[in-house]
Amino acid sequence: MKTCIAPSVLSADLDRLAEQVGAAAAGGADWMHVDVMDGRFVPTITFGSPMVRALRRITDLPIDVHLMVQEPERYIEEYAEAGARVFTIHPEATIHVQRHLDTTRAAGMLAGLALNPGTPLGYLEEVLDSVDLVLVMSVNPGYGGQRYLPAATGKIRRVRELLSRHRSPARLEVDGGITQATIRGAWEAGADTFVAGTAVFGAPDPARAIAELRSEASARA
Ligand code: DX5
Ligand code: ZN
Repeated sequence: MKTCIAPSVLSADLDRLAEQVGAAAAGGADWMHVDVMDGRFVPTITFGSPMVRALRRITDLPIDVHLMVQEPERYIEEYAEAGARVFTIHPEATIHVQRHLDTTRAAGMLAGLALNPGTPLGYLEEVLDSVDLVLVMSVNPGYGGQRYLPAATGKIRRVRELLSRHRSPARLEVDGGITQATIRGAWEAGADTFVAGTAVFGAPDPARAIAELRSEASARA
């Protein structure tokens, strides 16, 4: 599966969003990751569907929305209309997870399930047939710029085994503390899609940062 790099606009300078997204796209970014936080599921509040609409006008890249909100199902249609490609929810934030994953697909988006560091794989196993993307959190969500939790690597490996065992074609994304130093371990463990906020938009040259991340997440001769 093609390695996918998804810079998070959480770490972009919003006063020059178009410029920063343009630099990331020129540097080979595959998706743009949007962290939606509601101040309840996580302590912080960020942005909502207007951000997706704005990005839709700025770039053709698929928009990968990560809902760190309670009852994310209330927003499925809104984000589909705004132009989101991926809609990822946390199982603890809602009750009827499987139904909401199916509704997400029916709305024309890829259905993602996010696992916090403390969330067991059992949630995923129960609804695997409804999942297009598994997001392994390598930090406790809420803020950019945190350190990669080493335990995430083993979890990625276990998710990869689960996907292989069930012949699931789902993508395996990792989010939190991904840098030029941590991406390789996550890639070797089986991740194929990498969110990076600080490592891309905190770098003086976002395009170069993406190229470096990609070269770490590829086989070496
Ligand atoms: C964490 C968010 C991440 C965050 C990643 O709450 O879900 O997507 O933006 O930022 P970095 O790459 O800086 O850890
Ligand atoms: Zn995220």
